[in-house]
Amino acid sequence: MRVALIGYGNVGRAFAGLLEKKRKAFPFRIAGIHTARHGTAYDGADFGPAAGSVDEFLDRAACDVVVEITTPNPASGEPALTHIRKALARKRHVVTANKGPIAYAYAELRDEAERAGVQFRFESTVMDGTPVFNMVRKNLPGVKVLGFTGVLNSTSKVVIEAMREGKSMQDGIEAARRLGITEADSSYDIEGWDSAAKAAVLANVLMDARTTPLEVDRRGIGRLTPERVLELAQARKTVCLVSRGHIGPSGVRLRVRAEVVDEADPLASVQGTSNLLLLHTDLMGTIGVMGISSGVEQTAYGLFSDLVDIAESAK
Ligand SMILES: NC(=O)c1ccc[n+]([C@@H]2O[C@H](COP(=O)([O-])OP(=O)(O)OC[C@H]3O[C@@H](n4cnc5c(N)ncnc54)[C@H](OP(=O)(O)O)[C@@H]3O)[C@@H](O)[C@H]2O)c1
Repeated sequence: MRVALIGYGNVGRAFAGLLEKKRKAFPFRIAGIHTARHGTAYDGADFGPAAGSVDEFLDRAACDVVVEITTPNPASGEPALTHIRKALARKRHVVTANKGPIAYAYAELRDEAERAGVQFRFESTVMDGTPVFNMVRKNLPGVKVLGFTGVLNSTSKVVIEAMREGKSMQDGIEAARRLGITEADSSYDIEGWDSAAKAAVLANVLMDARTTPLEVDRRGIGRLTPERVLELAQARKTVCLVSRGHIGPSGVRLRVRAEVVDEADPLASVQGTSNLLLLHTDLMGTIGVMGISSGVEQTAYGLFSDLVDIAESAK
């Protein structure tokens, strides 16, 4: 299968490395790579000048699958949304790690893919490739997801951990930045937008919610102080930025809050770049999925697992 990449940053490079490592068993070929400022490359050649447009790139890079891994725009899902639509219109399968399009327009993209007769996959959008969507799709047939509880934002955990050591919010943000996990604008993490986007993705895909991050009842950790965190620590409690979803009388309700939890609560057990998601279901009770210290390698694996799945379903 021939694969075209739009975006070649941290995730793109890790993904290309993974394809190379697994080339014998999984002979995928990179047909082209398109970036914003670093140019465009075709068929393993060096980067040359950027294609004039994504249309030009997609028309020239003869590929079966487009992997969309550009920088996210938390307020709109662009430019990835347009890139994905253009790929689907050309009847290419699409794999993405970009939350935006799924948070803002999942149902439309799913339907566009279905009409085009191609696959649309996004395992890496939540929990860096730890199986969530593929697990539900493959391993939980007939199960209805009624709700979820997730601790899904790494920056907030690093900040709260720093506060437990008496450090300031800014010290915590800088520690997260050194780990490479904070968005350029850290308020996206601190004010709960990242957690809201992940909640919208989970609800759209697993609960057919047709919502957006703008509709999530959201409050981040912006007003939390080290004094409050230390006071809670003395009572063996901590704070977690929790994303919750459930089906209410008027449809799916989504909420992001800095919640006070007992230190012994499973939600408090995930630290740093680890993540926890509990799915509340009708037939299987509550199921937990945990990713320990995940990062760009796991994100790359999530893309790879989607790609392998598409290749197998095309046989
Ligand atoms: N990093 C993680 O661990 C992680 C985890 C889960 C999901 N994700 C998601 O994965 C995606 C990629 O993340 P990343 O860390 O690799 O980002 P990154 O290092 O910032 O790289 C982004 C890439 O997108 C390219 N790009 C931006 N706008 C473009 C446009 N309009 N047309 C073509 N290319 C464009 C950039 O081009 P230039 O190189 O020319 O600037 C760059 O190559 C994001 O959506 C992110 O949210 C990342």
